[in-house]
Amino acid sequence: VKRVTTSILQNMKDNGEKISMLTAYDFSMAKILDDAGTEVLLVGDSASNVMAGHETTLPITLDQMIYHASSVIRGVSRAFVVVDLPFGSYQGNSREALQSAIRIMKESGAHGVKMEGGEEIKESITRILSAGIPVMGHLGLTPQSIYKFGTYVVRAREEEEAAKLKSDAKLLDELGCFGVVLEKIPAALGKEVTESISIPTIGIGAGPHTSGQVLVTHDLLGITKDFHPRFLRRYLDLYDEIKGAVGQYIKDVKSSDFPNEKEQY
Ligand code: KIV
Ligand code: NA
Repeated sequence: VKRVTTSILQNMKDNGEKISMLTAYDFSMAKILDDAGTEVLLVGDSASNVMAGHETTLPITLDQMIYHASSVIRGVSRAFVVVDLPFGSYQGNSREALQSAIRIMKESGAHGVKMEGGEEIKESITRILSAGIPVMGHLGLTPQSIYKFGTYVVRAREEEEAAKLKSDAKLLDELGCFGVVLEKIPAALGKEVTESISIPTIGIGAGPHTSGQVLVTHDLLGITKDFHPRFLRRYLDLYDEIKGAVGQYIKDVKSSDFPNEKEQY
């Protein structure tokens, strides 16, 4: 199988071929998503919510991200694997940022890193790129800044924030990032940014005009039950499926139906 690379992703944008990206945090799920043909797997710091049960992405540590990333890498033969630099591992100090990115690349075998922000983290991005590590940007609703926003509503509806987002996207392009996630912004802005920069844009709640789409896998599969943003399309109701299967197992154990004669030695 041919590995997905940053130049393949760039060619996809240039040829108008949409890019599919999904989150992965463990070996078994990564294997399925890779086998299905997802081009990019994101070891998102949403692991903090989905895997660890925290309310925000802030608590997850670099060591924990590396554990998730190395598990994902062992399940993948084709997809490009991007890992979120967690909160506190890259903002403010570009040397520390580079050390964090190097640890992810060395200890997990991942193919690139993702960082939230534009101008504010320019130095960190530049330093990581200079080490030959592919960087993906993330603009719009950046969950590591949730306490600055105070709410998970759509970002960049007002002209001032939209202008900043557009100039940040241009900056990420000029610095040499290989792509940028646009989260929860108006579809018209998603279109404008996608057309005004050369690198691929990957949207989540950013409309249909971005170069590709990303969702949190547990949301798409309906494992998370109480999360209903407008941008989410649920392809399964796995929460209920799993609950039903487990309920049957419990019944079978209690009635001594399981194990039967063929299921014993
Ligand atoms: O952590 C994450 O899952 C993400 C995606 C939602 C883009 O950053
Ligand atoms: Na993230």
